[in-house]
Amino acid sequence: MASRPKIKRVLVVGGSGYIGSHMTVLLKHKGYEPVVFDRVISKTLQKVSNVSTIKGDLRRYQDIQGALQKIQPDVVMYFAGLIVAPESNIKPHDYLDHNVLGAVNLLKAMHETGVKKIIFSSTAAVYGNPPKVPITEEAPLKPINTYGHTKLMFEQMLERVALSDPEFSYVALRYFNAAGAHHSGLLGERHNPETHLIPNVLRTIKGSLKELIVYGDDYPTKDGTCIRDYVHVEDLTEAHWLAIQALRKGLSNQIINLGTGKGYSAREIITMAEKVTGGKVNLKVSSRRPGDPAVLVASYKKAQKLLGWQPQRSLTQIIESAWAWEKGLS
Ligand SMILES: NC(=O)c1ccc[n+]([C@@H]2O[C@H](COP(=O)([O-])OP(=O)(O)OC[C@H]3O[C@@H](n4cnc5c(N)ncnc54)[C@H](O)[C@@H]3O)[C@@H](O)[C@H]2O)c1
Repeated sequence: MASRPKIKRVLVVGGSGYIGSHMTVLLKHKGYEPVVFDRVISKTLQKVSNVSTIKGDLRRYQDIQGALQKIQPDVVMYFAGLIVAPESNIKPHDYLDHNVLGAVNLLKAMHETGVKKIIFSSTAAVYGNPPKVPITEEAPLKPINTYGHTKLMFEQMLERVALSDPEFSYVALRYFNAAGAHHSGLLGERHNPETHLIPNVLRTIKGSLKELIVYGDDYPTKDGTCIRDYVHVEDLTEAHWLAIQALRKGLSNQIINLGTGKGYSAREIITMAEKVTGGKVNLKVSSRRPGDPAVLVASYKKAQKLLGWQPQRSLTQIIESAWAWEKGLS
């Protein structure tokens, strides 16, 4: 029987970011040859892992075309993009520029250079306000922010390209809320600006943020604050690694949720963070932000079935690892 082609070289597009840097370190650890393509080169990642990097911007076609031509990766992992959902409704053109123009450039350049496999970071934001939870992949796709729309557009582009080329294959992973930090304590979440709940809760406890703003306590949830499904970043990267194995074995053109099936309200996260750290959050409740659904909780049955994945780490482990990372930051 013919042996399946090995996947060794991976172009990690957006590999300097939060999830991409964790992925790059895991790929190295597993014996792969990751090359990071990003418009920013992360000094932290360089310190943790001596990985090859290419500085480039997806919005410039020649940057990504040149990188693909040079590296000839077996698979592209596509993490890059703008990610702040409420901001995307205020600055839609920026999101179209990075997440759509950049995405089209990536697909065209893959076509031109003969690169046929891609794993894409999609999001629960494609579902908008889901009619029921846990959310399965068949739920209606009705994003309520431009960010979610841009991600859905790319899923649709992938579908079109795959229809035209039987050799092309993709896995789009719809993450719920990525959280937590690397077990080494050397990598973690650092967005600029930081809009995610857990890092901001921990910064308030640490004193580097004056107060934590919770947007809305009048949602139809048990305590009025939004409910989200927090999945540890290392569980996410393990799912990507399984997706590479699955692509190699012939899985193709799948869209898969990655979450834990458990939802926690913003108030529950604050209580848990106070328990883990022994600190106190200075909380301010403000009005709702447009573009925030009340409840997002995943069904991860498809990930379990197709990838053999299930989340391993608890909310306590998420907060403990994020706290270890946060304490080390200046
Ligand atoms: N963090 C989450 O909770 C979450 C949830 C769902 C989906 N996602 C998706 O996962 C992916 C990674 O998220 P993250 O939290 O690591 O984000 P991040 O902001 O930490 O990383 C994104 C990286 O992309 C790079 N980038 C952005 N625009 C670029 C461009 N035009 N050209 C080259 N590089 C560019 C940035 O420099 C950055 O290093 C994103 O696509 C996001 O939509 C994240």
